[in-house]
Amino acid sequence: MFKLTPPLGWNTWNTFGEKINEQLILDAADEMVRFGLKDCGYEYIVIDDCWAMKERDENGKLVADPAKFPNGMKALSDAIHAKGLKFGMYSCAGTLTCAGYPASYDYEFIDAATFAEWGVDFLKYDYCFHTPLIKAKYLYRRMGAALANCGREILFSACSWGIDETQKWIKTTGASMWRSTTDIFDSWSFIKKLTAQQKELHPYNGVGCFNDMDMLVVGMGGRGNVGKESGCTFEEYRSHFSIWCMMGSPLMIGCDIRSMNEETGSILMNRDAIAIDQDPSCNQPYRITDCRYPDEDVLIYARLLTNGDYAIGVFNMGDAEHSADFLLDEIGLPISCGKTLLMRDVWSGKEEMPKNNTVSVRVKAHDCRLWRCKVV
Ligand code: GAL
Repeated sequence: MFKLTPPLGWNTWNTFGEKINEQLILDAADEMVRFGLKDCGYEYIVIDDCWAMKERDENGKLVADPAKFPNGMKALSDAIHAKGLKFGMYSCAGTLTCAGYPASYDYEFIDAATFAEWGVDFLKYDYCFHTPLIKAKYLYRRMGAALANCGREILFSACSWGIDETQKWIKTTGASMWRSTTDIFDSWSFIKKLTAQQKELHPYNGVGCFNDMDMLVVGMGGRGNVGKESGCTFEEYRSHFSIWCMMGSPLMIGCDIRSMNEETGSILMNRDAIAIDQDPSCNQPYRITDCRYPDEDVLIYARLLTNGDYAIGVFNMGDAEHSADFLLDEIGLPISCGKTLLMRDVWSGKEEMPKNNTVSVRVKAHDCRLWRCKVV
C-alpha cells in the first residue's frame, strides 16, 4: 500500500503489553474520536503482540484468543471501521512472535488471507525467532508478496529494528514504514538514544516508506508495559514529539488514551507540529551547525516544507541549559538574498525574527524550540 505521509494511530504495546482485550480496544477507539485525536489525523487502532491462541487451528490459521476477544477479530474490525477508524494487527517473520505466540514464518500467505478476511488495514511485522538461514530481506519480501496479493489493501509496517541494514532493502518489500530504531522505553535516555540512531538514516525517509522511530511514550508517566520509573517530564515529552515530527516519523500513540489528560492532549494534538510531520513533500530533515556543536547534546535540525516554509528545531538533549545559535546561510538564505525568516514557535505561538541573519536561543536541559518559519 502506498502511503503519502507518515501513518498516525495508536498501538497497544507501550501501555498494555499482553493485557489486551476487545473492550479495551473499543474504548480506545471511542476515545480516539471523542478526544479529537481522529480529527487531528490519527486513524489506525493497532493491536500489537499477545492477541492469539498459542496454537493454530486444524487448517493452519491463526486463532484470536476468545478469552480476550470473545467476538473475534472480524466483529472488532467492523466496530472500529464503523467509528471511521482503521484496524491494525501484528505478526512476526519468525516461528514465534516476540512474546511467544505463533508467528507467520512459512504461513505468510495463509496469514495474509486471514488478516484480509478479518478486515485488517495495517500489519506490524516483527522479527523475533526468525531462522538464521534466511536473510531478513527475504523474510520481509515473503510477507510483502502475501499482503500485496491478499485482495485487501493492508499497510505493511516492518519491524526488524534496522537489522541487516534494513534501509537498503526495505523498499523492495512493499513496506510503507520500517522500524529504524531499537525499542523505546518511557525515559529521556531512550528518546536521546533513538534520536541518535536516526543520524545516518534521514536520507532513507520519504514518501511511500517512512522511518519509524517507534511508538510514542508521550503521556505514559512511567506507567505501563514500557514504563520506566517516573517516565518523562512534560518538556521531555514535548521534545520527544517535536523530534518525531521534525524527522517525519509515523506517530503511533502509546499511552492509555482512555485516561489522557489535557497536558498530554496539548502535545499529541498540536496541529502545527503534526503538520510538520505530515508535510506532503516529506523532504529530508538535516542537521545544521553540527561542526559548532559536535557532540549529541545540541541538535539543530531544519526541513524545507511544501509551501516554501521551513521547520526548524533546536533540541537540547544534554543535562544542562545550553545556548545555541545558527546562521540562516546554512538553510539556503545567505545575507545576499535579502530574505529573512518570520519564525512562529509551534508550542507558544509567539513570533520572532532573527537578528543579523542569526538565530540565537537558550534552551533548558531536555527542552526544545520548534518553529514553523516563513521566508519574508
Ligand atoms: C518488539 C517490538 C515492539 C513490540 C514487541 C512485542 O520486538 O519492537 O514494538 O511489538 O516486540 O512483543
